[in-house]
Amino acid sequence: MITVIGSLKGGTGKSTVAFNLAVWLAEQGKQVLALDLDPQETLSDVYDIREEEEIEPTFELMKSKGGIPKSFPKKTRKQVLIDVGTANMKGFKEALAIAHRIIVPVPPSQADVWSTQRFLSIISGATASRKKKPELLCFINRADTHIGVRETDEAEQALFQLDGIKLIPARLGQRTMFRRSFSEGCAVYELEPSGKAAAEFTRLAKILYK
Ligand SMILES: Nc1ncnc2c1ncn2[C@@H]1O[C@H](COP(=O)(O)OP(=O)(O)O)[C@@H](O)[C@H]1O
Ligand SMILES: [Mg+2]
Repeated sequence: MITVIGSLKGGTGKSTVAFNLAVWLAEQGKQVLALDLDPQETLSDVYDIREEEEIEPTFELMKSKGGIPKSFPKKTRKQVLIDVGTANMKGFKEALAIAHRIIVPVPPSQADVWSTQRFLSIISGATASRKKKPELLCFINRADTHIGVRETDEAEQALFQLDGIKLIPARLGQRTMFRRSFSEGCAVYELEPSGKAAAEFTRLAKILYK
């Protein structure tokens, strides 16, 4: 299955989510191929740290600053994760065109909800000629962890009401552990298995890969 982690905005958590999912899937014994199409190469950077530190399990990584590489296997039994943003428009459109599903991490703000709405129309353009459309999923990332902040609930409600995309009811909070683990080449649950970030992430991963 080819899963694209995408959004129009930067900083929504695409690379963080793609990396954590890649590690998690590898740990479940899956063959994982991650494709980094973002010229920022964040996923490749964290991959390099993991390799240098010789952390197991590993997964396969390909990268391109343009379109999908020629050597990319179109038909594969591997779990493919593609990390891509609008900085690489060619790669972005090509990834949308081959995706079985597209997962959109959305920070809890009105601007991000609008941007998700706009993304839906881009996806529908990029997949217009396809008979079988990709499944579209979104979830709140970087949710406020203070109770009393209403923005997260409001953004989630707005996403729930968007047509054509399904809201996954599993939020990731704004938690330091996502940044800290990433900089060490680890998935959140590897660095702090009993932490809140780990619990939130594994819950999300299990819903995504039932
Ligand atoms: N749930 C989260 N909690 C805290 N920090 C996060 C979370 N998700 C992402 N970040 C941080 O936000 C920044 C942007 O995330 P990144 O995954 O690089 O986004 P993108 O790939 O969409 O540009 C990074 O510094 C990352 O560590
Ligand atoms: Mg990124």
